Amino acid sequence: MLVKTPPMGWNSWNTFGPDINEDLILKSADTLVDTGLAALGYNYLVIDDCWALRERGPEGQLVPDPAKFPHGMKYVADYVHSKGLEFGMYSCAGFLTCAGYPASFDHEWTDAKTFASWGVDFLKYDYCYHPNTVPGPVLYKRMALALANCGRDILFSACSWGADETRKWIKETGANMWRSTEDINDSWKSIYTLSKKAGQAIRYGSINCFPDMDMLVVGMGGKGNVGFAGCTEDEYRLHFNLWALLGSPLMIGCDIRNMSESTRAILTNKDVIAINQDPDYNQAYTAEQYKGQWPEASDFPIYVKLLANGDLAIGLFNLSDTDGSWYSSTLQLDEIGLPESCGRTLLLTDLWTGEKKLVTNGILQDALKAHSSRLFRAKIVDKP
Ligand code: GLA
Repeated sequence: MLVKTPPMGWNSWNTFGPDINEDLILKSADTLVDTGLAALGYNYLVIDDCWALRERGPEGQLVPDPAKFPHGMKYVADYVHSKGLEFGMYSCAGFLTCAGYPASFDHEWTDAKTFASWGVDFLKYDYCYHPNTVPGPVLYKRMALALANCGRDILFSACSWGADETRKWIKETGANMWRSTEDINDSWKSIYTLSKKAGQAIRYGSINCFPDMDMLVVGMGGKGNVGFAGCTEDEYRLHFNLWALLGSPLMIGCDIRNMSESTRAILTNKDVIAINQDPDYNQAYTAEQYKGQWPEASDFPIYVKLLANGDLAIGLFNLSDTDGSWYSSTLQLDEIGLPESCGRTLLLTDLWTGEKKLVTNGILQDALKAHSSRLFRAKIVDKP
């Protein structure tokens, strides 16, 4: 199956972990639609780990835990589909899932068939407890082949956390997206670590094989399964800007049934979503990387991405713990393909405030507060 833009949706893990059930999933489906999130593109509703019984059924099939899902999974899938959404589930390439439930190693074809029979549209596929005798690329190929032959289009979301140099072999497995780094949690430390590591991994992403920086923690406020210290509003906005600009799938991880206004404002910024969903899916880059310095070297990365209509998306980030000076965030336009000789410059629109600004001297500069960011859409215009 061909997936043209980074998948968007909601996943149960970040907030609910093992505490999932039919009522939560059905209500979250309602909420995705009622809040307008689905209309903005968040259309995959994914149940993560801990949905199954600890033992397979008599024919070797996975069985939903009847205490959590009393009407079975087809019932849930039908409901999710009735809301115009796509339904996602979770398994793992090993003997057990990461939380210790039965996983799909040596059951790939049975499980793919089971998922198809329930009406599953998306499979997140983890890497815990995998046998050392079979290489990672082969484990992912096994499930990709089974899915491609199960009679239903199922988006294949690989989740091997960047292990074993996932980026180098994932594309040929047939996965549609792949986790580029370790698990996220709801803290600045985690956002910082993942931000620093993402720059190199994203170069291996492409249409139909998107680098997944992990589910969003926006709006968790330190609560739930991976709710650690929580983040400030600036930090959540930086996280959303960076994930969007770098082309990661955008899977919401907070409890959408109880979103605050500020959470809603972040997750529903149409202009930022449009950068993420740009149909050309050009890679974001930093000017530094062409000087032999990788984005993770800097605590003030500036990422630039060419958009389908000829505009540029430009994101300025201050990942450091101190407020930056004008000097710390500086972008020379000649380094991004706009030399003095071309007679053009940038007309910037700030995608959070709507403020417009013309670059007049060939240099874009800003002083950003610690842990904050700015995201612009820039039009190329004649120099005045
Ligand atoms: C791994 C994954 C997480 C989540 C858990 C479930 O840690 O990376 O995203 O799916 O397993 O157990």
